[in-house]
Amino acid sequence: MTFRCITECLSSSRWCKCCAGARVVDLRSDTVTRPGAEMRKVMKEAEVGDDVMGQDPSVNDLQTSAAHMFGMEAALFVPSGTMSNLIAVMVHCRERGDEMIVGDLSHLHIYEQGGSAQLAGVHSTSVTTLPDGTFDLDQLESKIRHGFPDPHYPRSRLICVENTHNIQGGRVLPLSFLQEVRSLADKYDLKVHMDGARVMNAAVALGVSIKTILQHTHTVSVCLSKGLGSPVGTVLSGPSEFISRAVRCRKALGGGMRQAGILAAAGKMSLVKMASRLEEDHRNAKTFARGLGYLHVFRRDKSLTPLLRIHFKVLSTINVVVGVIKLKAPVCNFLVVERQLHESIEIKS
Ligand SMILES: Cc1ncc(COP(=O)(O)O)c(C=O)c1O
Repeated sequence: MTFRCITECLSSSRWCKCCAGARVVDLRSDTVTRPGAEMRKVMKEAEVGDDVMGQDPSVNDLQTSAAHMFGMEAALFVPSGTMSNLIAVMVHCRERGDEMIVGDLSHLHIYEQGGSAQLAGVHSTSVTTLPDGTFDLDQLESKIRHGFPDPHYPRSRLICVENTHNIQGGRVLPLSFLQEVRSLADKYDLKVHMDGARVMNAAVALGVSIKTILQHTHTVSVCLSKGLGSPVGTVLSGPSEFISRAVRCRKALGGGMRQAGILAAAGKMSLVKMASRLEEDHRNAKTFARGLGYLHVFRRDKSLTPLLRIHFKVLSTINVVVGVIKLKAPVCNFLVVERQLHESIEIKS
């Protein structure tokens, strides 16, 4: 069994001979979860209608429940987190020459193909993302433009924050930071959008309700397929007027779905039932991290001298790849963990 072999087996969901006996917990990403039997049953039985006409009862139910849960006026079911963020940018920055401020390590800035520029024609300026996912507030303030209506300058409209922060290892933004960002936004009449793909995890980590976090933002995008078990889907939420405009953008981007209730039923289950199980996930992740932190690899003969000591530089609750490798010379199996495939861990022998 090799690392390559097991990752190929994981991605094809078919086990080759040598991996067949392996007990694997696939932690490459919280997006690899699959809907369980109960969710599939709910999907099978979902009432559906034409959602482009606003007539799918299951979609409407999901949207109403999500808005209520988030403490927002309205919500919209969209196919993906990327589309949800793009729609938010399109609605908040709707005049030519509008600008948004984003973290230089945000998903929006790095991993969404520059969609806001490419498809929405929105200019962005970036602030340095600090290791805890926050920004320096003075730097943030310095990025706000004051030139309008001088024709030389774009007009600042939007500040985007990401919670939890993906590239920074699943960091939870402190409530005090969100409050300060919101005060700054209010001072200059800007809007705050949260890429809250995993904001449910932030609520669990802080031990507060989701509303407590979202009171500091105007709009939020929450993914249902990241650690919450749904096969697909994201909810974009905010004021009613924002959502009415978002419906138009979704259609223009090709995200209007017809009998989407099959997916929305799974989404509702993710919000209502699966979100409450995140606490369990967090507990397991911490136990796992503690265990790995002390991992020593011994020879099969159980001699007391460890063959390897593995030191893990950083371990986040997401973005972890685990493989089992058989060394060539010494006969033993050990675990290798990499962060998002970019940053290999140090292995000291
Ligand atoms: C923080 C964050 N935002 C947005 C997205 C985009 O979501 P999707 O893959 O559904 O487009 C991701 C995807 O991993 C993400 O991690």
